[in-house]
Amino acid sequence: MNITQIKPQIRYVGVNDRTTTRFEALWSLPYGVSYNSYLVLGEKVALIDTVEESFGSRYLENIRRELGDRKVDYLIVNHMEPDHSSSVVALRRIYPDVQIVGNAKTLQMLGGYYGIDRGTIEVKEGQTLPLGGGLTLAFCMIPMVHWPETMATYCPELKTIFPGDAFGTFGALDGGITDSQLRLDHFWDEMRRYYACIVGKYGAPVQKALSKVGTLEIDTVCSTHGPVWQREIARVVEIYDKLSRYEGERGAVIAYGSMYGNTAQMAEEIARGLAEEGVCPIVVHNLSTADPSMVLRDVFKYDTLIVGSPTYNGELFPEVEALLSRIAARCVPQRNFAYFGSYTWAGAAVRRFAEFAERMKWQTPCTPVEMLQGYSHENCGNRCRTLARQIAEMMNK
Ligand code: FEO
Repeated sequence: MNITQIKPQIRYVGVNDRTTTRFEALWSLPYGVSYNSYLVLGEKVALIDTVEESFGSRYLENIRRELGDRKVDYLIVNHMEPDHSSSVVALRRIYPDVQIVGNAKTLQMLGGYYGIDRGTIEVKEGQTLPLGGGLTLAFCMIPMVHWPETMATYCPELKTIFPGDAFGTFGALDGGITDSQLRLDHFWDEMRRYYACIVGKYGAPVQKALSKVGTLEIDTVCSTHGPVWQREIARVVEIYDKLSRYEGERGAVIAYGSMYGNTAQMAEEIARGLAEEGVCPIVVHNLSTADPSMVLRDVFKYDTLIVGSPTYNGELFPEVEALLSRIAARCVPQRNFAYFGSYTWAGAAVRRFAEFAERMKWQTPCTPVEMLQGYSHENCGNRCRTLARQIAEMMNK
């Protein structure tokens, strides 16, 4: 069995990256990441997307192993972000006659990033490219998933779609390539984390893309990151659909900052109160130590967000402010929202949370708890428990 053979006419030539610690220099990669690229073998050979350039030589060797002396006739560029396009120059060096296929925006970026303006073919929505051998490629524009030039390439004869980053996930491919060859447990949350960090702002374009590709007959999804989906397509589409509707599952995320542990005690008391009210799951993140991408993942995953902060220089604690700014940047339309805060001489945190809710147009029916100075059960514990009860009621509505 040749594991890189997805179908007799489709070969996997991507690479695993287990070295980069931060994707986009921002998001952690505890399981690594794969940059996927595929060959479609008709009478002509089409290569779909490339890989990050530091893996260029490994990548070119993968192509050579599959093709031998055959050459690459077309490179289809579904997405120009450099993790998929930056091996184009190296590819051209080995295959100087390769025609690069993209839409008008792709070709403009190809010039801007790599100075390439020759040997290109511009395609538009619905256009097809015959490969011979009974295979064609059709192009379907899916702008803002998650760049403006993004398109999906569909091979109707093989019922296979190459949708760029859509349906992608963090996580390198440990040996296998398709979803029936891999242990999938961690991929579901890695998919949510990938979506929340990378695609999260673009819920409406993702919805549009889903309805567009939903009309196609598909049994194989070859994304640019993560497993090739065959057996689990329905589950993958369901996750992307939910995330792009910003629909959280039932569950509470408590995210707080705390300098000396007093605000942390409020968070613990609220968490305990929620558990007593039967709320499950509850996820608590100390934002000074939590991985921001995991917090963002949970904000997208669950329907309830409770934030807490001390007043710091008359503002929110910086890590709390950073979380709110990431959420605002992703235009999350609504969460069950509640908040609590503390101060030593002049309170600001609770007021800042109220302003955030107003800016986001989020409803905040719960009574915030504002604590002066140190935590004690007498001065604050009961109010935290009352807040927990209100949050549970809000979640049950
Ligand atoms: Fe994996 Fe948007 O690049």
